[in-house]
Amino acid sequence: MSAIGLIRRIVEGCGSLDSIASEVKAFGARRVLMVTDKGVYSLGLTKGAETILNAAGYELCIESDVPPEPTQAQVQAIFDKACGFDADLVLAIGGGSAMDTAKLIALMLKNDLSVQDLLDGRRPQARKVPLIMVPTTAGTGSEATPNAIVLVPEQNLKIGIVSDLMVCDVAILDASLTRGLPPAITANTGIDALCHLMECYISKKHNPLSDAFCLRGISLIARSLRKAYTDGSDMAARSDMLLASCFGGIAIAGSSTVGIHALSYPLGGRYHIPHGLSNAILMPYIMEENAPCCLERYGDIARAMGMDTAGKSPEEVAQNLVKELYDLNAFLHIHCDLKAKGITLEVVDELAAAAAQVTRLLNNNPKELSIEDMKRIYRRLIADNA
Ligand SMILES: NC(=O)c1ccc[n+]([C@@H]2O[C@H](COP(=O)([O-])OP(=O)(O)OC[C@H]3O[C@@H](n4cnc5c(N)ncnc54)[C@H](O)[C@@H]3O)[C@@H](O)[C@H]2O)c1
Ligand SMILES: [Fe+2]
Repeated sequence: MSAIGLIRRIVEGCGSLDSIASEVKAFGARRVLMVTDKGVYSLGLTKGAETILNAAGYELCIESDVPPEPTQAQVQAIFDKACGFDADLVLAIGGGSAMDTAKLIALMLKNDLSVQDLLDGRRPQARKVPLIMVPTTAGTGSEATPNAIVLVPEQNLKIGIVSDLMVCDVAILDASLTRGLPPAITANTGIDALCHLMECYISKKHNPLSDAFCLRGISLIARSLRKAYTDGSDMAARSDMLLASCFGGIAIAGSSTVGIHALSYPLGGRYHIPHGLSNAILMPYIMEENAPCCLERYGDIARAMGMDTAGKSPEEVAQNLVKELYDLNAFLHIHCDLKAKGITLEVVDELAAAAAQVTRLLNNNPKELSIEDMKRIYRRLIADNA
C-alpha cells in the first residue's frame, strides 16, 4: 500500500481567478511570489491576478523568466533570485514549465536545499510556504501531481523529482486563461493529458481511486479535445480540457505513467522536442504495443471514449481503440519532423538505452519492454515521421 498525496482544494470555472485574493488571504500570507513564463506574462494572463492582489494590499514579486522545459541550472537561478524577496506564499500561473518551477521553489524556500540536493534524493520534512497553482495549458496536470521535471543537460535526460509535498494547496482552474492557447499547443498538451489518463489506467500501479479519475478524464477529452482544437473560444470544451488535465494529475499522484512517458523522455532530454508533442507522437504506438496485455482495460477506455463496443471481441475493441488514437492524432495534425531534430535511424540505439534508464515508469508498464522492443518502436516512429 502506498500513500497518495492528493490535492486538497480545486476552484473551478471561467473567471475563478478573480477569487485569488480570498484564496491567498485564507493562508494569512502577505508576500506573494508569482512564478510565470515570458509568454504567459506578455500575453497579459497574469494581469488580472496582479491587479487584484495589488488592490488588496499584498506585496507581490513577479518572476517571469521561466523558460519552456527548464534545466536544473535555470530553476536554481530563478530560485536564487527569488530568495531575496522572502515570500510567504508561491503562486504559479502558467503551463507545466512555470508550475514545476514554482513547485520546486516552494519546496526549497526556507528549507536550505538546492535543486541538486533534490536530484540527489534529499527531501525536507515539510513545505514551509503555501502553494497556489493556476494552469494556463490543459495538459500536464502538474497542479495535482507530486512531480516536477527538470532537464539535466549533462545526462541528456529529463528527470522527475517526486515529493508529495509538492502537491499544491489550491488549484484554480479558470478556462478563460486557456482561450488563446494556439491550436498546436492545445493539441499537444491535450494529448499529454490523455496519455496521463490512459497510462495511469493501464499502469501496474492502477487502483480504484486513480481509475475513477482516469475514466472520467478520458470521457471529457473524447468529448472536447477536437472541439477545443477547432474552436479555441469554445469555453465549455476548454473547461472540460482543464478539468481532464487536472484529473490526469490526480491519477498520476495515485498511479503512474508508463511506456509513453518513458520513451518520450529521451526525445525531450536530448532533442528538445516539447513534452506534449513527444508523448503525442509516441502514444498510438505504445498503446498498440501494450494492447494484448490489458484487453479488458482497453475496453473500459473505449467505452469511456463513447465508442460502441457491443458484440465485439476484446481484441477487436482494442484494435478499434488504437485506430481511434491514430485518427485523433491525424485530426489534430500531430506531426514532428524528427529528421530536422536530428533523430534518425542512427540514434535508435542511444534512444533505447536512454529510455531503458527510466525504470521509475517502465517498471509499471503492463508489457515488459525489452531494449529490442523499444528500438523497434523508435524505428517505426522515425519511419512514420520522416
Ligand atoms: N509535473 C508534472 O507532473 C508534469 C507532467 C507533464 C509534463 N510536465 C512538464 O511540463 C512542461 C511542459 O508544460 P506544458 O506542456 O504545459 O508547456 P509549457 O509550460 O512549456 O508552455 C508551452 C508554451 O505555451 C505558452 N503558453 C502557456 N499558456 C498559454 C496560453 N494560455 N496561451 C498562449 N500560450 C501559452 C508558454 O508561454 C510556452 O511558450 C515540461 O517541462 C514537462 O516535462 C510536468
Ligand atoms: Fe506528461
